[in-house]
Parts: sequence; structure tokens; C-alpha cells
Amino acid sequence: ALITMRQLLDHAAENDYALPAFNVNNLEYIQAVMRAADATDSPVILQASRGARAYAGDAFLRHLILGAAEEYPHIPVCLHLDHGDQPSTCISAITNGFTSVMMDGSLLADGKTVASYEYNVDVTAEVVKIAHAAGVSVEGELGCLGNLETGAGDKEDGHGFEGKLSREELLTDPDQALDFVSRTGVDALAVAIGTSHGAYKFTRAPDGDILSIDTIAKINKKLPNTHLVMHGSSSVPQDLQDLFTAYGGEMKQTWGVPVAEIQKAIPLGVRKVNIDTDLRLAMTGTIRKNFKEKPDNFDPRNYLKPATALMADVCKERFEAFRTAGKA
Ligand code: G3H
Ligand code: 13P
Ligand code: NA
Ligand code: ZN
Repeated sequence: ALITMRQLLDHAAENDYALPAFNVNNLEYIQAVMRAADATDSPVILQASRGARAYAGDAFLRHLILGAAEEYPHIPVCLHLDHGDQPSTCISAITNGFTSVMMDGSLLADGKTVASYEYNVDVTAEVVKIAHAAGVSVEGELGCLGNLETGAGDKEDGHGFEGKLSREELLTDPDQALDFVSRTGVDALAVAIGTSHGAYKFTRAPDGDILSIDTIAKINKKLPNTHLVMHGSSSVPQDLQDLFTAYGGEMKQTWGVPVAEIQKAIPLGVRKVNIDTDLRLAMTGTIRKNFKEKPDNFDPRNYLKPATALMADVCKERFEAFRTAGKA
């Protein structure tokens, strides 16, 4: 059986570690995370976006993940909805066996208009009421993920707001966070600290001006018992960029969230760290390499196997770096 996010994050808080939450879309992603979890004895959060649900189908996702739990009975597994855009999306996830949902009311359901604070409180509180009655955990989000240098929201994956926001608007306000958590009853709170989704987070190695770990410290002071969540937290390591571009992939030089910065955030209450881009790069880079090096191969297993292995290596590194390893 699957367990809730709340159970996992409470254990993480008691033992001062964080869980990477990996976005999954198909069998190979799930195998990669589970193999890494098995190798490092780590508990697991598998998360599916609306896009993943549309790509794979809810029944396939649910059964793949139940299959993972059956194959690895000693590893606790949570199935989480990433970025639910409205209450009905969260309800359909609950109906389909998710044990945790995110209601992201920071934007309206169009995915690009910044929502009012009262709207966010209302939709999030509504989901908490329904989810908790069903024994399901809830993550809320306060603040807008976006780039502190340019004021722009997430660009390439269609999750971001339109227009530009100021630094104040882009960073989660600690006093508002306190009010939000008490009025909604969320189990975990996603915060905005200068990260964004996708590969292009920063145009240089981030410092405190563009990646505000300090904001996490301030929120943690107001809310010492709330589990905090970092989105847009792929590290976009140089070796994965190089693998992708060495075999014809087109990507300009970019910087992600360094693992060392995430490690600083763990003692400040961060318990869940969302990672999608790093696994996308590992899979696609490996497939590109294999297509180039073995042009006569047409058995998909021959390139999916090494692609899955490289994704598992990335997962293992994160489980170890976040001290998830050994906590299953
Ligand atoms: O929220 C962003 C995640 O990386 C999921 O992306 O909506 O393209 O599946 P997606
Ligand atoms: P990345 O694009 O940095 O992997 O972020 C994923 C994420 O936050 C999913 O919600
Ligand atoms: Na947001
Ligand atoms: Zn996210």
C-alpha cells in the first residue's frame, strides 16, 4: 500500500533530512527511482503532474506505482499530485489513488494569472477539507516561482505567470506564510525563493541575490513546525548538460540549484525537494548518445536500459545528499 506525504515528511522532520520528490511519467522513471531507493534504503515520493497524468493515464500511473510498491515492499512510497491547478484536479487525483495532492493556488487555473491571496487561501482550504477527510495529504504554494534578476516567471514549460514581478512579489512573505498555513491547514508549504522550473534557472552560479535561502530561514522562524517544499530544484549538473549537447542536443549554458544550497535549506525546515529536469536530461542525453553510437540498433531496451541506469545514478546522488539514504 502507498503511504501519505505527511507520514514521510513528519519522519524527515524528526530526523532532519529531506526527500527528493521525483516527477515520473512512465515505467522507466519509476524503475530508476525505485532502484536508487532500494540501493540506498530511501523512502520515496513519486509525483505526477497534470501533464504526466494526461501522458500516461491515471490507471497506468496508479498500477505502475502499485507495482513499484509490490516489487519493493520494504520501501515506503507516496503518490503525489504535482501542481494541481484547481480543486477538481485534486479530487480526481484522490479518486484515482493518489495519497497526496498539491493545490497550487498561487496562479489561477489558467496557469498564468497571478491569483489573489484570498483566492489561494480559499481553494487550498477547500482541498484540505476534502483531502483530509479521505486521509490524503495536501501541499499548498505561496508565492510565485520566477527569476529574481529578470522578474520573469517559468518560461519554457508553461507553468509561469505572464509579465514581470518585483523581488517582493517573487519571494514568499514570512508573515503571510504563517497566516496561510493557519487558515488552510496544509501539511506542507511550497515557497518561492528565486527558483523556477526547467533548465534555465540562472545565467550564472547563483548567490544569495538570486537564490534566497535566507527567505527559507525567515519562514522557518515564523513556522518552525511546517514542512517546507522547494520547487524548481534540479541542479542541472554540468555533466548532464555536456552529455546532452555532446550528441547534438541544443541547450545554452545554464545553472540550476546547487546541491550544496539545498543542503543548507534542510536544517531550515525544507523536507521535500522537487526534481524533474535532471531526470529528463539524464534520459534524453543517454538516448542521444546511444542513437549516435549504435545507429544500427532498433531494440528500445538497448537505449532505455542505460537511460534508466543514469537516471537511477542521479536519484542515488540526491538520496545521499539530502540524507534520505538509510531512512526507509
Ligand atoms: O511543474 C513542473 C514539473 O516539472 C512537471 O512538468 O507539467 O511538463 O509534466 P510537466
Ligand atoms: P525542476 O524543473 O527544477 O526539475 O523542478 C521540478 C518541479 O518543481 C516540479 O514541481
Ligand atoms: Na507559484
Ligand atoms: Zn513545481
